[in-house]
Amino acid sequence: MENLKSRIVTCSNCELHSTRNNVIFGEGNPAAEIFLVGEAPGADEDRVGRPFIGKSGQLLDKILEACGFTRDDHVFISNIVRCRPPNNRVPTDFEVQTCIGYLYEQIELVDPKIIITLGATSLKKLLNDDSYRISKVRGKWIEWNGRRVMPVYHPAALLRNPALKKDTWEDFKQVIHSYREQVDPDHSSPHI
Ligand code: URA
Ligand code: URA
Repeated sequence: MENLKSRIVTCSNCELHSTRNNVIFGEGNPAAEIFLVGEAPGADEDRVGRPFIGKSGQLLDKILEACGFTRDDHVFISNIVRCRPPNNRVPTDFEVQTCIGYLYEQIELVDPKIIITLGATSLKKLLNDDSYRISKVRGKWIEWNGRRVMPVYHPAALLRNPALKKDTWEDFKQVIHSYREQVDPDHSSPHI
């Protein structure tokens, strides 16, 4: 992981390096069984160097807490692209292609049983299939390289449209069940 980190923080393979303040390596338990994949850092993350610490991140923390999961113990959090795209635009295909190898390496190192993709871009780019429709496949497990992938809405989508929160909670309940099945039958969540 340290070797990967040193390559990522010095990366200049795409133009995003010229406007970034920080590279967001990711954080959490390096041996976590749950790996969360976001899209790209925003302004807050770029300023501080940590993933999901702005408004979306605060909502994500609430969801994790409701599941009985903590950033330190149960999850590792990373992104498709590690430098902030200016004005938070969607990363270009070139930016994704030059960066996503780091994510694949990081997933192999952490070796999680469960991957949660946050939002449409994360789902399509991780699985390298732009035909996925988040509204159709959210909440349905996808088998990928021997791991289970649960696609969920991006927390930013929940902030824009709070009606989506109900479905998202159903999706995370499935994650809790799978975690109990695969990792810890005694895992306790405050709600289920
Ligand atoms: N949104 C993302 O997709 N990733 C982050 O790290 C922060 C916000
Ligand atoms: N659009 C997105 O990009 N992500 C979502 O989760 C929902 C709509």
